[in-house]
Formats: sequence, C-alpha cells, structure tokens
Amino acid sequence: MRITMIGSGYVGLVSGACFADFGHDVTCVDLNEQKIAALNDGIIPIFEPGLEALVAENAKSGRLKFTTSLAPAVAEADVVFIGVGTPSRRGDGHADLSYVYAAAADIARAVKGFTVVVTKSTVPVGTGDEVERIIRDTNPSADVVVVSNPEFLREGAAIDDFKRPDRIVVGLEDERARGVMTEVYRPLYLNQAPLMFTGRRTAELIKYAGNAFLAMKITFINEISDLCERTGADVQDVARGIGLDGRIGSKFLNAGPGYGGSCFPKDTLALVKTGQDYDSPLRLVEATVEVNDRRKRAMGRKVIAAAGGNVRGKTIGILGLTFKPNTDDMRDAPSIAIIQTLQDAGATIRAYDPEGIEMSKSVMQNIEYAKDAYDVAAGSDVLVLVTEWNEFRSLDLARIKSTINEPIFVDLRNVYRRREVEAAGFVYHSVGRPVAHEHADKVAAAE
Ligand SMILES: NC(=O)c1ccc[n+]([C@@H]2O[C@H](COP(=O)([O-])OP(=O)(O)OC[C@H]3O[C@@H](n4cnc5c(N)ncnc54)[C@H](O)[C@@H]3O)[C@@H](O)[C@H]2O)c1
Repeated sequence: MRITMIGSGYVGLVSGACFADFGHDVTCVDLNEQKIAALNDGIIPIFEPGLEALVAENAKSGRLKFTTSLAPAVAEADVVFIGVGTPSRRGDGHADLSYVYAAAADIARAVKGFTVVVTKSTVPVGTGDEVERIIRDTNPSADVVVVSNPEFLREGAAIDDFKRPDRIVVGLEDERARGVMTEVYRPLYLNQAPLMFTGRRTAELIKYAGNAFLAMKITFINEISDLCERTGADVQDVARGIGLDGRIGSKFLNAGPGYGGSCFPKDTLALVKTGQDYDSPLRLVEATVEVNDRRKRAMGRKVIAAAGGNVRGKTIGILGLTFKPNTDDMRDAPSIAIIQTLQDAGATIRAYDPEGIEMSKSVMQNIEYAKDAYDVAAGSDVLVLVTEWNEFRSLDLARIKSTINEPIFVDLRNVYRRREVEAAGFVYHSVGRPVAHEHADKVAAAE
C-alpha cells in the first residue's frame, strides 16, 4: 500500500514509521519545515523510545520518506491518514478542528484516483461527515471514502502499542474502504490483533469514551486517596484490593498529582462539550474534569504545607517535569500547575527532567535547571518527586540528605516506602498513605 500521513508529530511519525516497517510505502508530510528538514537529516524531533532506530532503518530501506509537499504525496497514495493536532479550542474547550479541516481541503485538491482518507486524529463524533463534506465541496469529482481509525498508542510505549495493539478500531460504511483498511493492518491482523469494524460515528466516539473512562478511573482513585489521608487508610492497598477484582482491573489506579498530557485533558473537555451540544450531558466526565483541575494546584499547596506553610524565599527542588516518564511531552503536565502554585507563593524552583527540559523552557519561566536529581537537591529546601522516571526510583537518599537544606521529601507518585525514606533521616510525605497506617508496614518490616 502507498500510504501518506498528514502530520508528523507523536502519532503521525510513529504510525508512519510502523506502517513502513510493516512493508508499506510511506510518506510523512508536515507543514513544519524544520521538523521535516530534521527528519531528512535523521534527527527525531521528539523523544520516543526506539523511534530513532525504527525511522533510520525504514528511511534507509526507502520505504519511509518525509516532505512538506502535500500534493504529490497525496496524489500517489492509496490511503491518506490525517494525523494532525486537535488541541482544545481557546475559550470553550471544544476540539479545535481547523487543522483537520485544512488538511481535508488540501487532500481534496490533490487527490487522484480512488483514495481512502482516514482520520487518525482524535475528533468529535460527526467530524468524519464534515471531512467528507469538505472534500466533496472542494473537489466534487474526487473518488474518496472517509474512514475513522482512532489511535490508542501511549507516548513512551508508542511503538509497542502500535505494533501490539489491544484492538484496532475502524469506522466506515463502505466495502471498498474495508478491503483497503484490512490490507493496511494485515500484519497486525495476522498477529491476532482484533480488527474491529464499526460505523464511523461509533469509532469516533469509542476514542473519547475510552479516554474519558481512563481519566475517570485515575480521578476516582485520586479522590479515594484524599479520603484515605483523612481516615487513615492506605490508598495503595485500596487500589490493590479493588484492582484484583477482574471487573475493575488494576491499571490506572495509581494515586498521584492528577492526569495531564496531550490527550486526557483536552479529550475529556471536548467530550463534555459534545455532550452539552447534543443535550446529553456527561456529568461523570464533567466532574472528572473539575476534580482533576483542582487537584493539580492542590498538589502545589500540599508541598507548601510540607514546607511548613510558607515557601516564600525557599527553593523547591522538582524531580520530573513531563506529564509521565519516557516522553519529552510537556502538554498539560501536572508539573506546570504545581510549579505555578509554588512560584505564586514566592518559591524559587530548581528542576530536572531526563528529557523534558527543552520543552519545559517553552512553557515555563524562571526555573533553574539542574543537571540531575542530586544537583536539584543540593541547596533545595524541599524535594518533590513529580514524574516517576526510572532514574528517580532508587536515589541515594543519604547523598541527598547531605546536601539538601532541610530533609523534606514529597513523593507525589508513591515511589518510595516511608520507612526507607524516614530511615535516611527525611520527613516524608506521599499521596493517600497517612503516617499512622504505615504502622502496619513498619510492623511487617520488623517481623
Ligand atoms: N500524542 C498521543 O499520545 C496521541 C495518542 C492518540 C491519539 N492522539 C491524537 O492524534 C492527533 C495528533 O496528536 P500528536 O500528539 O501527534 O500532535 P502533534 O502536535 O505532535 O503533531 C501534529 C503535527 O501535525 C502538523 N500539521 C498540522 N496541520 C498540518 C497540515 N495541514 N498539513 C501537514 N501537517 C500538519 C503539525 O505541524 C504537527 O507536526 C491528535 O488528534 C491527538 O489527540 C495523540
């Protein structure tokens, strides 16, 4: 298959490289000239484990190309994927579909012969109808079928997710397109990945319903963790206790500083707006959005409380800035609201992230960047673990203790055990694991 991918960001680049790896001929298109120039020089503009080697290998074989010229790439394609961004629209939280619609018009002008146009971007239910209308209005003679194929990959594990998906969802109402999509995904299909065909609108909604459900699950355990703190229960045991129930499942039950990232915040918000537009409010999702928004600043206040109630003139050391480990993506990262809250209260911020510092510089100001976790701790008054990168999981606590001003450690990801941090001489704060009830933990350790 000759595949053209419009948009070469986290989704477009990974999908394009993986399709090329399946043996298809892929051209990745992007408006951003610097991005394409970098890719043509073998430089990957984002951090995603394994991507550099995958791109290099497939570019070398000639199956993967990069260009800013959309028209020729579309003209020769059997399948054109739209993988452009759908951020929150400023002001009202609807998905901003202007990039998708612009791509649809560009495709319509360039298309030649029968072509399947596939929306891979996350788009509200009904967007496929509008993409189809734009293509027909722009080029009435275009022989095009519009399909929905939402993407479920997770940054940080994107290649593995793409190559070993739980399912592939394809929404269409046309048999010719069904044959083409089966061919596109044949290598995965042969690998037993379930290929689920459904209606186009249903496929669009599956993506939002999935993300909203996961965001709700995270938010649920976060609220339970607050209740644990008030009542003396331990959220990790609660999560384990409920997660072992097969109907609930153990994933996405880690209490923390609230969800962030490029998808959950904007997708939950967009789904809320869709529900309102169709007079079918999604009150659970509305509550999820509100609770999560409040939680991020509340985590900043938790740090202030741990510092004794006042951080003016103090230096707060931050470990991890990206919204999760193994990505450089800073979009809607909880660290942004936490750091803002601390800066508003007069704190100086000293931070380190293994991959996110460059991106962080474009979204936050007045941060002293350190070269590693120990460099953050030296001269800080409080150390806060915000993103659980592997290199923060087994820190030399004695070494940190010897350089930090005050031995206060706030672990917003519950990475450490209280007894080991306290044994190293720290005052330890975590999420949903109150002091009194780690007594059992201590007893177990002593036994
Ligand atoms: N990032 C994820 O983990 C993830 C996972 C699943 C789904 N999605 C969805 O996939 C879509 C893309 O997300 P992303 O994170 O890859 O975004 P991104 O911002 O990293 O990439 C989008 C790219 O599209 C390019 N672009 C915009 N308009 C264009 C046009 N008309 N022609 C050519 N290029 C154009 C931009 O320059 C940019 O490089 C979004 O709808 C998102 O919700 C993202």
